[in-house]
Amino acid sequence: MVSINKSFFYGIGVASITWLMSLCFYFQLIKHDNLNTVFPTNNLESHNSSHLLKDDMNDIGLIKTTEDQRIKDEGYKIHAYNTLVSNRLSLNRTIPDTRNILCKNKIYMDNLPKASVIICFYNEHLRTLLRTVHSIINRTPSNMLQEIILVDDESDIQDLYKNLSTYINKQKLVNVKLFKTDRREGLIRARLFGARKSQGQVLLFLDSHVEVNVGWIEPLLEQIQKKRSNVVMPIIDIINPDTFMYSASPLVRGGFNWGLHFKWENPPTGTLETKEDFIKPIKSPTMAGGLFAIDKKYFIDIGEYDAGMNIWGGENLEISFRIWMCGGSLELVPCSRVGHIFRHRRPYGSPDGKDTMLYNSLRVAHVWMDSFKDFFLNQRPDAKNFDYGDISSRLQLRKELKCHDFDWYLTHIYPELPLPTEEGERLKKKWSALEKDKFQPWHLRKRNYVDQYSIRLSNSNLCVSSVKDIKIKGSGLVLKPCKSGKNQIWYETDKNELVLAQLLCLQYGKANPILYKCHEMGGDQEWKHKGGKETAIYNLAAGTCLAAENKSINSAVSMKICSNPELATWDLVR
Ligand SMILES: *[C@@H]1O[C@H](CO)[C@@H](O)[C@H](O)[C@H]1NC(C)=O
Ligand SMILES: *[C@@H]1O[C@H](CO)[C@@H](O)[C@H](O)[C@H]1NC(C)=O
Ligand SMILES: *[C@@H]1O[C@H](CO)[C@@H](O)[C@H](O)[C@H]1NC(C)=O
Ligand SMILES: *[C@@H]1O[C@H](CO)[C@@H](O)[C@H](O)[C@H]1NC(C)=O
Repeated sequence: MVSINKSFFYGIGVASITWLMSLCFYFQLIKHDNLNTVFPTNNLESHNSSHLLKDDMNDIGLIKTTEDQRIKDEGYKIHAYNTLVSNRLSLNRTIPDTRNILCKNKIYMDNLPKASVIICFYNEHLRTLLRTVHSIINRTPSNMLQEIILVDDESDIQDLYKNLSTYINKQKLVNVKLFKTDRREGLIRARLFGARKSQGQVLLFLDSHVEVNVGWIEPLLEQIQKKRSNVVMPIIDIINPDTFMYSASPLVRGGFNWGLHFKWENPPTGTLETKEDFIKPIKSPTMAGGLFAIDKKYFIDIGEYDAGMNIWGGENLEISFRIWMCGGSLELVPCSRVGHIFRHRRPYGSPDGKDTMLYNSLRVAHVWMDSFKDFFLNQRPDAKNFDYGDISSRLQLRKELKCHDFDWYLTHIYPELPLPTEEGERLKKKWSALEKDKFQPWHLRKRNYVDQYSIRLSNSNLCVSSVKDIKIKGSGLVLKPCKSGKNQIWYETDKNELVLAQLLCLQYGKANPILYKCHEMGGDQEWKHKGGKETAIYNLAAGTCLAAENKSINSAVSMKICSNPELATWDLVR
C-alpha cells in the first residue's frame, strides 16, 4: 500500500537502531541528570494501578486484561509502537525540559515571524497525533503560530479522519486546519499540498508522532529572521516506542553515505569546545527530513520539493544538497528540542513493491551529483537500467539558480565524507576502529548495584535460575530448588536491571524472558517490583510480569498478564 508516513524519517527509521546504539554511548559521556524520566502521576488518564505493584511505580504499560493485550498487539502491528501506553498518557503530559541551561535564559528578538506547522500523516494513531497537536498548542506562543495544518494522505484506518475532525470541532481548536488529499500522494506531494494551503511566513514541517518541547519554536524562527535562507532543524529527542519515556539526544548532525542513505554523525572535532558552542547553531551537511523550518518564500524560490519523486526516500538529501549548493544554509539549532517516537520499523510496505527510494535517489544523483554519481551507481548495480523519470525541469532549476557544483559541496560543506577510493576505505577502517575504542568505556563502565537477592516463587522453595550456564547469552529461565551460591543471585542496578551473578541482564524476549548482554537502554531490560515478599516483577517494555508455568522443578519462566497472581508472585530473598 502507498503511504506517506513511511517516508518520514526514512533515514532515522532505517538507522534508528544503530543510532540508538551510538546515542547510548553518548549518554555515557554527557551527564544528563534527567535522562529517564518517571511520569508524574498527573500525566496519566483513566489509569489504575495493580495491587501487586507499588502505587508510585511506573506501571503505565501494565497489561491487566486480554483487551489490554489486544490493543497493544494491534498497535505494534499497525504503528510499530506501544499504543496502549499512548492511550493512557495525558494529551497534555509534561516532558522534561532537555535544553542546555544556557538556552533557558536566552532572550530572542521580538519581531519573530509566524509559522504554519505542517503535519502530513498516513494511518497515524489518533491519540498520538493529538498529543503532537496539543504539545504544539501548549508550547508555542500564539503570536508565532499562524496555524497547524494537518494533511491526511488518504489513511485507510476507518474513521480516523472523521474522529479527528470531530475532536477539532468539539475542542474548538480554531488554529488547527484539517485537510485530506484526493488520493494517496506520498510525503513529498502531501507536503507541497499542505504548504500551498498555508498562510504563515515560515513553514515548519513536523512528523505526526512527536512532542515539541519548551521554547522549541523561538530559536528556529530567530535563525530564519536573521537570514531567510537559513533552513533550520531542532534537535530530535527520543521518545521510547515501548514506554514513551522522553530522553535527551546528544548533538549529532546529518550526513550520508555513497549508497545515498542518511546517517547521523558527530559534529567535526573542534565544533563543541566552549560552553557557548553547545547552544550555537551547528551546520549540517544534510537533514533527516522529518522536522525542519524554512521561510515560505525561500522554499518556493529554491524549487520546493522535486514533485517528480514518488512516495518516500531521497527527498531529504535532495533538498539538503539544493539548499547548500544554491546559496542557503542548513543548521541544527540546539536550543530547539522536539521528541520523536523512534518506531521499531516503518510499519507500511512499499507501494506495488516498487523501490521508490532507488527511483528518488537516482533523481538526486543525476540532477545534483555530477560525476560523483558514479560512486552511487557503482554501489548499486541494479540502478543501471532503472527508470528515474524526467528530470529536465530540475536540471533547468539548477541552472536558473546558478548553483555550485557537487565538488564545491564536498569541499566546503562535507569534507569529512570519505570518497570510496582506497584512501577513503583506509580512513573508514581507521574511523571504525576509533568507534570501537569509543565503545570500550561503556562496556567497562562500573554498574551501580543497589540490591541483591534470589527470586523465589511465593509459597515454594523454587527459585528463578538459568537453563544453561549463567554465562551463556540467550539462555532461558526455569525454576530450580533454591540453593546458596551466586548462580541464583540477581543484582539489581540503579537502572532497574536484574543482572544474574553480575554477568547477564534479564531481558524480555518475544515469548519468554532470557539472559542477555546488558544494553543500558531500559525498556526490555527494565524491571519493577515492590520489593520484599509477594511482589509482581513487571517489565516496562512488555507490560507483563514474570510468571512460572507451574509450581514444579524445571517449569519454564515466561511473561504473563500481571493481574493473575497465581504463578506470578515472588519473594525477593536477601
Ligand atoms: C480501578 O479498576 C477497578 C476494576 O477495573 C474499578 O472498579 C475501579 O473503579 C478503578 N479505580 C479507579 C480509580 O479508576
Ligand atoms: C489540555 O490543556 C488545555 C489547556 O491548556 C485544556 O483546555 C484541555 O482540555 C486539556 N486537554 C486534555 C485532554 O487534558
Ligand atoms: C472513532 O470513534 C469511535 C467512537 O468513539 C471509536 O469507536 C473508534 O474506535 C474511533 N476510531 C479511531 C480510528 O479513532
Ligand atoms: C510444568 O511446565 C513444564 C513446561 O514449563 C512442563 O514441561 C511440565 O510438564 C509441567 N508440569 C506439570 C506438572 O504440569
